[in-house]
Amino acid sequence: MAKLTVRDFDFKDKRVIMRADFNVPLKEGKVEDDSRIISALETIKYLLDKGVKKLILMSHLGRPKGKVVEELRMGPVAGRLSELLGEEVEKLDDCRGEKVKEAIENTDKRVILLENLRFYPQEEAGDENFAQELASLADIYVNDAFGTAHRPHASTTIIAKFLPSCIGFLMEKEINYLSKVSQASQKPFIAILGGAKVSDKIGVVENLLEKVDKILIGGAMAYTFLKSQGIEVGASRVEEDKLELAKDILEKAKEKKVEILLPLDHLCVEDIEKPQTKKFSQSVDIPQGYKGVDIGPETIEKYKQIISQAKTVLWNGPLGIFENPEYSQGTREIAEFLTQIEALVVVGGGDSASAAKKFGVADKLSWVSTGGGASLEFLEGKELPGISAIPDKTS
Ligand code: 3PG
Repeated sequence: MAKLTVRDFDFKDKRVIMRADFNVPLKEGKVEDDSRIISALETIKYLLDKGVKKLILMSHLGRPKGKVVEELRMGPVAGRLSELLGEEVEKLDDCRGEKVKEAIENTDKRVILLENLRFYPQEEAGDENFAQELASLADIYVNDAFGTAHRPHASTTIIAKFLPSCIGFLMEKEINYLSKVSQASQKPFIAILGGAKVSDKIGVVENLLEKVDKILIGGAMAYTFLKSQGIEVGASRVEEDKLELAKDILEKAKEKKVEILLPLDHLCVEDIEKPQTKKFSQSVDIPQGYKGVDIGPETIEKYKQIISQAKTVLWNGPLGIFENPEYSQGTREIAEFLTQIEALVVVGGGDSASAAKKFGVADKLSWVSTGGGASLEFLEGKELPGISAIPDKTS
């Protein structure tokens, strides 16, 4: 069911409180990656264009665990947001209390950014009073924080009880693209799953088995799958306690006639810190004393050939240790290849989104999710509390 969006409200002279996900990486007191701030701009500009009286933005930053942590203040976010908006944002040193109310009343700025919500334990506890206090600052609530939509927190979920509420454009696009890829109306539907752990992806795989035609596996989770089939994986990272689970998944896939492809060859090293020890395995087995760090050339070719047939692609999780250029070839080549096919290609956030950005392909794909945990839960078929809390269009 479609949710109420910012298009459904009249914002003229209204005070609006908007939850964004400004949980961005910081380095030496500066925003290191501003993608999440850029992603919120469309809704922010729209609300300003519609004549809001005040736009009060709020977010968490990091995990301060209910205490003030100086390094996690929102100052750098306010600075970067002011630059991107081309107008100064009033950054407050708190997110609740009389002083905050007064500052909002007295400032001549249109855009206000509250202090890190997680400085109060009530945020993560989903405290009703805290949510009500946030709500008392405004007339309308907008949730554009897809990255935090899986958290049932005061500012993402509970606040919607106290104000007329809707989603912003980012949230709307995330829901649309992730729903579209999960429904996979255009076949063949190919999922590329990577990352370190089978356990992180089990929910997604189980949900996908109902819809997908083929699943291509890479990343360290491939070694757990291979070992579960009796294949030699040398000293590669393996989740020993997930071998049975991996075996079960492969069997379930067979029953459902979904082909799960595992790497045919690997790039492996004796020591991850010593790339000079790297070599290709030449076969599916990884030699004794070697660790797999990327998919090999035969696998890259095989995966490309399958991807070239796809009409819908979901990519979640890198195929090797892409952060190190010595081990990035598999992830990079597959990421680049995804830009060359005529298909709906959705990247499910987290590390694969970082990889897409690093290899310069993010803008050439259909959608790159801004959510890590949130997109995983969405793709597992779970309801996200931050989305459920917003009324449907017809109600
Ligand atoms: C994220 O970065 O995935 C979101 O901002 C959620 O952060 P959290 O995992 O600390 O709740």
